[in-house]
Amino acid sequence: MSSEARVLIAPSLLSADFADFAQAARAAREAGAELLHFDVMDGLFVPNITFGPQTVQAVRHHSDALFDVHLMIVQPERYIEQFAQAGADIITVHAEACVHLQRTLAQIRECGARAGVALNPATPLNVIEYVIPDIDLLLVMTVNPGFGGQQFIPEMLRKIARARALLDEAGSDAWLEVDGGINGVTTPMVVRAGARVLVAGSSVFGHPEGVRAGVEELRQAVWEAQERV
Ligand code: DX5
Ligand code: ZN
Repeated sequence: MSSEARVLIAPSLLSADFADFAQAARAAREAGAELLHFDVMDGLFVPNITFGPQTVQAVRHHSDALFDVHLMIVQPERYIEQFAQAGADIITVHAEACVHLQRTLAQIRECGARAGVALNPATPLNVIEYVIPDIDLLLVMTVNPGFGGQQFIPEMLRKIARARALLDEAGSDAWLEVDGGINGVTTPMVVRAGARVLVAGSSVFGHPEGVRAGVEELRQAVWEAQERV
């Protein structure tokens, strides 16, 4: 299999020490992660509550990684400008949370960020069919959003492969991202299916030997997927 497409790693702060995001951000960057993933939850779209744009802004001073902000909130259009100003490079909204998805994606780009769409496991891919030109990233959720440390849903492998085909057929160079249950075991499977950005919370920040070991384990798994025939 060819290895031309570089796979990027996005550690999720959801599994880091909430009292020391600055240190977590530095450790992830030093381990070679290209992105830093922020899980924003409002207690409505998902049961959990995390943090808002102030936190993104505070961490911005401690990392030059690409800030990948995953909004698990209702009516995300209300907060896009604030997250862009806080330093988000990529802002991803859930299709299920947007009544006017195309407008919201355009709004993200107008704010100077890259526009992402996330799909819950049960949401069909066809909801993005007519907004492909408006997206820079497609996030296929491989667990139901809301919590870290959940089990990867195997049926999502088929969805990732279909998403890869959909983007390729449309001539889109949007990044295909996966999020939930990504570790050394699932990484080769999702990479072979066509994923190009790996979000990983517990397998990086919860790794028993530390963040560097967590990122290296994923890197090794990517290598296995791309080099093995
Ligand atoms: C889940 C979040 C994920 C979470 C993943 O709602 O979107 O980003 O941090 O955690 P793990 O990698 O532990 O499944
Ligand atoms: Zn996420």
